Amino acid sequence: MSTIISATPSARTEAQPLPQADPGVLVIFGASGDLTRRKLLPAVFDLSSQGCNVSGLDIVGVGLPEMTDNDFKAAMRQSVEISNGARTFSEENWQKFAGRLSYLSGDLADPQTYQALARRLEEMRQAGASGNHLFYLSVPASIAPKVIQGLGEAGLNKNENGWARIVVEKPFGRDLESARALNKTVLSVFEESSVYRIDHYLGKETVQNILMFRFGNSLFEPLWNRNFIDYVEITAAEPLGVENRSKFYEETGALRDMVANHLLQLLSLTAMEPPFSLDADAVREQKVQVLKAIRPMNIEDVAARTVRGQYGPGVLEGNLVRGYRQEPGVAEDSTSETFVALELRVENWRWSGVPFYIRTGKRLASHLTEIRVHFKPTPEALFVSGQNRQPEPNIISIRIQPDEGISISFGAKRPGLGMNGITVTADFTYRDAFGMNTPVAYETLLLDVMMGDATLFTRGDEVEAEWRIITPIEQAWAQLPRPQFPNYAAGSEGPEIANALMWGERRWNHLRPQR
Ligand code: BG6
Repeated sequence: MSTIISATPSARTEAQPLPQADPGVLVIFGASGDLTRRKLLPAVFDLSSQGCNVSGLDIVGVGLPEMTDNDFKAAMRQSVEISNGARTFSEENWQKFAGRLSYLSGDLADPQTYQALARRLEEMRQAGASGNHLFYLSVPASIAPKVIQGLGEAGLNKNENGWARIVVEKPFGRDLESARALNKTVLSVFEESSVYRIDHYLGKETVQNILMFRFGNSLFEPLWNRNFIDYVEITAAEPLGVENRSKFYEETGALRDMVANHLLQLLSLTAMEPPFSLDADAVREQKVQVLKAIRPMNIEDVAARTVRGQYGPGVLEGNLVRGYRQEPGVAEDSTSETFVALELRVENWRWSGVPFYIRTGKRLASHLTEIRVHFKPTPEALFVSGQNRQPEPNIISIRIQPDEGISISFGAKRPGLGMNGITVTADFTYRDAFGMNTPVAYETLLLDVMMGDATLFTRGDEVEAEWRIITPIEQAWAQLPRPQFPNYAAGSEGPEIANALMWGERRWNHLRPQR
């Protein structure tokens, strides 16, 4: 049972002024890769089409394959046209955009590539392009140091004609040691203020809304602590498999791919103290404090408080789908996890004793990313007698996707004779309230980099704090007996054993197909 909450009519119709980015040249390393095609180019195209950076953004793709500018444009056109991200595709918009695209072929391990890039950027500047340079590393973590050093050696980290910024994609390293080394490399070439470590979850509208919801309302914050909250549940479930990323996934697994960044970010936004301002450093400082308050697990904790899984064949949305080990490029006896559930404890004054349950997986029954804050039950004294039932404890559910919004459940009297409680839900959805889709995360984040706003990016010490939690789990898993994989069917809710992490009345939310 639910009540729809809507925005005031003016909020639905008020036009928001479009932020304007600085002009610049966006250089994408790994330009022929999946991320560039699926996310980056469509996002930049949409930004241009909406008029956020009409003042001049040029794009240079850099990659190993030999391609002419026209080949590159044709490949990118196809991607932009079919991408969900490109909401504004039209021939006219494309022609304007394509005029700003070019390609440079080169081996990212070869210093000559960066010299050639420096020459290209200078030629472009002399022909009227902006002197601001944004270097986007859409490359595996193992290649990132080479690109950073190459940029430094070619002098592209210093820029007399504008700014030079660098965006580093996740995963930022693959453990604490490599993340430290990567931080050291990047900070030996660029200033921290020019480094943007991207975690695209932070660009999602609903993730940003966590701050507004918690600190823009006086209603919730007084209750947001161990005195009232029983447990917090964070889920990121995907029906998608590993698509064409099996090589990456075999090395990474779900813990590094999703928990080490996206889910820890959701946790820290949920648990952080109020920042004194919305400045990048004020917000990031509070998030780091949460990560530091999570005690790294020892091997016994890992055995008791983590569950890993791998999908086998199954039925998803009516179709038979293969298991992970049958995916092209995956070893027949692969031990990479495609599912993780774990319980983390934030050992500080606000949260001591409140478990944070985290779960993520591929090929699960439905697509759902949400944070559910479960409040403690009321004392049973009042409403339980005879047939009467106590209403369920309150839950605040922050839906990141799909169907972005927030719902709050509370008890009400069931109409009629007797005093029967029933749980009802007040539901706010962006779609119903504003009649619009929320912006795509990569658009928000690219625009922020071009405006020099690092609030939604991860600071160096924050990334290290994330790995300080994750690396001991990886190390313990390497020592503990391997679970029998596969241990869940595609299309299910994950391994049964994940239910054992919760005790008493606590339950994971069911993964139902979306309404
Ligand atoms: C990426 C992961 O960072 O996030 C993918 O590498 C995952 O494995 C994706 O599918 C999920 O992002 P979103 O925005 O679709 O929830």
